[in-house]
Amino acid sequence: MVDLIEKKRDNKEHSYEEIQFIINQYMQNKIPDYQISAWAMAIYFNSMSELELTYLTEALVASGEQLDLSDINGIKVDKHSTGGVGDTTTLIVAPLVASLGVPVAKMSGRGLGYTGGTVDKLNSIPGFNTDLSMSNFIHLVNQQKLAIIGQTKNLTPADKKLYSLRDVTATVDSIPLIASSIMSKKIAAGADCLILDVKLGSGAFMKTLDSAENLASTMVKIGKNHNKKTMAIISNMDEPLGYMIGNALEVKEAIETLKGNGPKDLEELSLVLASYMVYFANKATSVKQAQVMLRETISSGKAIETFKTFIASQGGNSTVVDNVSLLPKARYQIPVYSKEEGFVSAISAHQIGTIAMLLGAGRTTKTSVIDPAVGIELRKKVGEHVKKNEPLAFLHINDNKPSNIISQVESSFTISTEKQEPNRLIYKTIF
Ligand code: URA
Ligand code: CA
Repeated sequence: MVDLIEKKRDNKEHSYEEIQFIINQYMQNKIPDYQISAWAMAIYFNSMSELELTYLTEALVASGEQLDLSDINGIKVDKHSTGGVGDTTTLIVAPLVASLGVPVAKMSGRGLGYTGGTVDKLNSIPGFNTDLSMSNFIHLVNQQKLAIIGQTKNLTPADKKLYSLRDVTATVDSIPLIASSIMSKKIAAGADCLILDVKLGSGAFMKTLDSAENLASTMVKIGKNHNKKTMAIISNMDEPLGYMIGNALEVKEAIETLKGNGPKDLEELSLVLASYMVYFANKATSVKQAQVMLRETISSGKAIETFKTFIASQGGNSTVVDNVSLLPKARYQIPVYSKEEGFVSAISAHQIGTIAMLLGAGRTTKTSVIDPAVGIELRKKVGEHVKKNEPLAFLHINDNKPSNIISQVESSFTISTEKQEPNRLIYKTIF
């Protein structure tokens, strides 16, 4: 291992056997953490070649189980977001594409830190069960094209071990390590095609267009080298997506969007992601046609009907779709007023996400318990006008009321005298 650390330190390329050796021996505890830390730091500074990335991803995948989706008919397409604030797109995209016959067999994560997780959002629906057996999961996808489960199997344990180490050795922030980590999990989850949503902005890992592009194209290359049709978009995460941040609040927002009454940014991003999924699954001859078909599933009511069937099939109370007041509701709704008149020119997604987490909508540690009802409801987005003493947002809270919370939400907004155009939603598409 000393020789291999030296090799990476000197910016030379690892062979397939060398990477296999490192990951396998590490998993058998035959290489200590301190050597892997030094190796990860060498990667941080010297990066990895496309070939090395493909080998590393393969080794991470091979460290655990892989989902076998071969009993599901049709082309399976998965989507992945690198993590944002108020990003409810999976709950919208999944029923949308399933409505057009695209099978969605999705394994989703729980949220950690200020980014939310799809499993937590679904679990805010009374009765909803994300703990299905593999056979039931596959049965549901074949029957109705859609099922979503939490991470039950032992997927990519080498990634878990490596990630924990990176977390405490300042090596998380490395594009080759992030790309191989994300892609190993997606490849192990078994889909044929993959649509990636790389977030860029204050509420995202990637803060510059250059780094977002680098991450996106690195992941696309890894996907293709593993014979998965893969593409990525780079989307805005300077302000939260939609108006709702919090689990039940985001389910409500997803329901509105599937009925055609959603926020513009959330609807547009969902339609873009869904249209690439439909196109990759060969259910449309162009992305444009896919988008027309998807809009039709919303206006005809098919999309919301699919969502309803999906909720019921996983044990949830599907009447929430017709009556959103059946979702968990926080005891207090506290307005946050604007101190001045003007136009909203920025809303810090990072700050809003962090406050929502502290309220109990997210986890500060792996073992934190989520409160499904709490969160933040924005009343204004970038580009909108606000009067003095008009609400910028409402806090949905139970008893947990962190100090200074109102002033923190207020300071997440930047108000200026000149009207600012709404944020650009999609920066780039990478194939
Ligand atoms: N998300 C992941 O899954 N892995 C990383 O390394 C960083 C973010
Ligand atoms: Ca939202």
